[in-house]
Amino acid sequence: MFTPQSLATILDRIAGTRVMVLGDPIADEFLEGRIDRISREAPVLILRHARTRLVPGGAANAAANIAALAGKAEMVGVVGADATGEGLRDALGRVGVGTSGLVVAGDRPTVTKTRISATSNQSVTQQIVRVDRQSDAPLPAEVSTSLIEAYARLIPQVDAVLLSEYGNGVLAPEIREQALALARQAGKPVVVDAQGELAPYRGVAALTPNQPEAEAVVGFAISDEASLQRAGDRLLAETGAEAVLITRGALGIALFERGHPRIDIPAFNRSEVFDVTGAGDTVVGTLTLARASGATWCEATILANLAASQVVRRFGTATTSPGELLAALGWAEGMEDLA
Ligand SMILES: Nc1ncnc2c1ncn2[C@@H]1O[C@H](COP(=O)(O)OP(=O)(O)OP(=O)(O)O)[C@@H](O)[C@H]1O
Ligand SMILES: [Mg+2]
Repeated sequence: MFTPQSLATILDRIAGTRVMVLGDPIADEFLEGRIDRISREAPVLILRHARTRLVPGGAANAAANIAALAGKAEMVGVVGADATGEGLRDALGRVGVGTSGLVVAGDRPTVTKTRISATSNQSVTQQIVRVDRQSDAPLPAEVSTSLIEAYARLIPQVDAVLLSEYGNGVLAPEIREQALALARQAGKPVVVDAQGELAPYRGVAALTPNQPEAEAVVGFAISDEASLQRAGDRLLAETGAEAVLITRGALGIALFERGHPRIDIPAFNRSEVFDVTGAGDTVVGTLTLARASGATWCEATILANLAASQVVRRFGTATTSPGELLAALGWAEGMEDLA
């Protein structure tokens, strides 16, 4: 099935493998400060701002994860004509993600999730509220055209395509259809992480719904062995994909590969989980990169699960590195049950 040796060989090969990510980039913003006063204008807390960090989220997090693993990532998606959009472009550039495919839409904000957190005397940092900015309007036609132009220009330069749909409009039907057709013509494998319907992605190489997304698509709950198997079989049949990964949070990943028995991969390192935000982006980014570097679906899934087991040990949206994965191959808790 796999050996630590075969996984190490793939980690060696992923350096330089090229993946284009088309999807919904999100600015994950973390605003922090101290609270030690109550306002006299209203019965509210006053937060004294200390710092704001901007981290690539959503599709941009998948791209950042690929770059952190030494792959070459190109981001194609939409940002607004605002400071956050510029900040997101800079943040992606700093971690080595290509941003020539980021299209600016003047009529909408950059999709932003701002977590406002505070400390006070003798208390740890605590999230108070999250502020979301996004537009529900469809993308203007000229933005869609620019997206497809960027995608068509970049596709000859990549080994695989990752579609990351967070429901913010980049993978609207007409763009999705053209993206799938262009990938087919170019013979590039496509891996999909999408929040809504999966049937429109018919013919792609693989999909990575999380368990609630898989349940919503098949229309029944995954509550035992039999319903899990039925859900995976149904998704393989409906999408015609080679592989479907149902990511199951603390239960790990169930890999359904056409013509093979299901493989259940337990979550590794369950004991040191701090923050699972973005773990799904790490899974799909690593899977796509490993597969495009010649891994079997089983090997690519194990590496994706291993990468996720590293990022859940860090606060906020996070990435991991080839060195860290190589080190983890030796001791990841739960791995020995698999080999
Ligand atoms: N509590 C946990 N303990 C250990 N590993 C975890 C835990 N939660 C998530 N993981 C790892 O992260 C992977 C993806 O997590 P999950 O199934 O929650 O994806 P998701 O819901 O798509 O995440 P996202 O927030 O990025 O959308 C899991 O398959 C597992 O490897
Ligand atoms: Mg997800």
